[in-house]
Amino acid sequence: MAKAEFVRGMFNDISHKYDLLNDVLSVGTHRLWKKHFVNLVLKNKPQSALDCATGTGDIAFELKKHISGEVVGIDFSEGMIDHAQAREKASPQKVTFKVADIMKLPFGDKTFDVATISFGIRNVEDLSLGLSELGRVAKAVYILEFGQPKNKILAASYFGMLRIYVPVFGLISKRKDAYEYLIASSEKFPSDEKFLEVFKANTNFKTYQSIPVFGGIAYIYYGTN
Ligand SMILES: C[S@@+](CC[C@H](N)C(=O)[O-])C[C@H]1O[C@@H](n2cnc3c(N)ncnc32)[C@H](O)[C@@H]1O
Repeated sequence: MAKAEFVRGMFNDISHKYDLLNDVLSVGTHRLWKKHFVNLVLKNKPQSALDCATGTGDIAFELKKHISGEVVGIDFSEGMIDHAQAREKASPQKVTFKVADIMKLPFGDKTFDVATISFGIRNVEDLSLGLSELGRVAKAVYILEFGQPKNKILAASYFGMLRIYVPVFGLISKRKDAYEYLIASSEKFPSDEKFLEVFKANTNFKTYQSIPVFGGIAYIYYGTN
């Protein structure tokens, strides 16, 4: 099965438990990481934003608290977008949510001041195409993604802990393959300089930066002009 089809099916299946799973798995810390990420994005003072692989919309809602212009969230999982739209109805933050694929974004060149993606780029089947689409539709791109800590002891204990702890994810989600995928994809996904190489090769910004979060368990990458 193609990666995109597997990923979409998996996120559709777990969409109704996704927010709970995130809180359980990260012991709530994903909220702090996302806040830190959004604060960095806002330093650029964007007036419009596209949040890709938005899931249930965490980043899009947080951005909309500070952005007066349009904020759009897209995801290719209908289940995730249904949840984001249900949240939007009950929220003071008005965000437009749409089903769309990062590999073929339905927006013109440089439509948005910024495009963001949190814990999504690792899942995109064609990484180069996904990055070039993000760079095409926005004037700046900010990415939050898992990586591998450089410190070997931290890396071994973190991935060791994930193997013990993450099966909880399988129990709650009833998708054993989903947690296996989470570990395997985080262990292998290019991080830091390796990711920046692919980012630079597929976009055309003046400045690029990679910032480790929690010693490299995750990274924030950005490209701006
Ligand atoms: C781990 S979730 C992240 C959700 C949210 N951004 C967050 O930080 O909580 C990854 C999301 O990426 C979406 N996704 C993966 N590949 C995609 C693609 N090619 N186009 C759009 N969404 C995609 C999945 O459907 C899923 O909702």
